[in-house]
Amino acid sequence: MVALAEAGDRAYGATAVVTLEPCARHAGAPPCTSALLAAGISAVRYAVPDPNPATAGGERVLRAAGVNVRGGPLSEEVRTGPLRAWLHFMATGRPHVTWKYAMTLDGRVAAADGTSGGINGPAVRAEVHALRTRVDAIMIGRGTVVADNPGLLARDAEGDLPDRQPLRVVVATGDLPPDAKLADPGTLHLRTHDPAAVLTALAAREVVDVLLEGSPTLAGAFLHAGLIDRILAFVAPMLLGSGASALAGAGVSTITDAYRFTIDGVTMNGSDVRISAVPVRAG
Ligand SMILES: NC(=O)c1ccc[n+]([C@@H]2O[C@H](COP(=O)([O-])OP(=O)(O)OC[C@H]3O[C@@H](n4cnc5c(N)ncnc54)[C@H](OP(=O)(O)O)[C@@H]3O)[C@@H](O)[C@H]2O)c1
Repeated sequence: MVALAEAGDRAYGATAVVTLEPCARHAGAPPCTSALLAAGISAVRYAVPDPNPATAGGERVLRAAGVNVRGGPLSEEVRTGPLRAWLHFMATGRPHVTWKYAMTLDGRVAAADGTSGGINGPAVRAEVHALRTRVDAIMIGRGTVVADNPGLLARDAEGDLPDRQPLRVVVATGDLPPDAKLADPGTLHLRTHDPAAVLTALAAREVVDVLLEGSPTLAGAFLHAGLIDRILAFVAPMLLGSGASALAGAGVSTITDAYRFTIDGVTMNGSDVRISAVPVRAG
């Protein structure tokens, strides 16, 4: 809609290239198909069919109106990229969980005294802020609140606070320290240890994309429940030799019980290595 408004008369006779099949029915706003037809678009290329039965059918509507429509271009890139979390939510009814953490070459996320700031360099910190601006919620456990007292705010490239901030979520049965930055009414404090119940509560708030930041014990519980959908590990060229490991309480005692992941991306980010991995799931 924004692109059509910006294009104005230039949209007439043009080809629209979109990630998702244009919606055919009213879903809080008029259907995209009506806007495309009103703008005089003559062709549409979309990557992924609309999986939502309430709004699907856009290709049929556009074809019936004489528009040249083709689905499929860049389908894989869109499925695993910009629409990944939303498609996951549509398929499962639960938010997509990315577990992100900063660790040393020996797998530590904090030193023995609990300090963890500065494991990653500025390039990773910038990426994490960009990531925070895109997700709907950031989630941590009480141990991280106590050790690090984070504010979980997203900042833009200039260091300013964008208007849209992700929901800040703490999972803990206990109270937060009264002077914690997250001890305010804007934080959703979920008093449970059940990861499925956490995601149900977040889905009820229309949270589609969640970033689980560090939080070794909470991450262990989510992994054990099969509820980690992507890992983003930022590995720093640093060794500690002691201190908290990236993961705790995941329930693995023998190598055959290891959780298996497929690495789908490795890049340098400043002096750190960024590893993206997705679970190997049966079927
Ligand atoms: N480098 C990084 O990326 C990074 C990021 C974050 C944290 N850290 C480090 O991680 C360390 C904290 O580790 P942590 O494991 O204590 O942190 P955590 O996972 O944030 O917090 C653990 C607490 O969360 C609650 N909790 C929620 N769900 C739970 C479940 N299913 N099972 C058990 N407990 C659950 C419990 O509090 P209740 O008893 O109140 O229920 C538990 O004590 C700190 O040193 C911090 O600096 C590092």
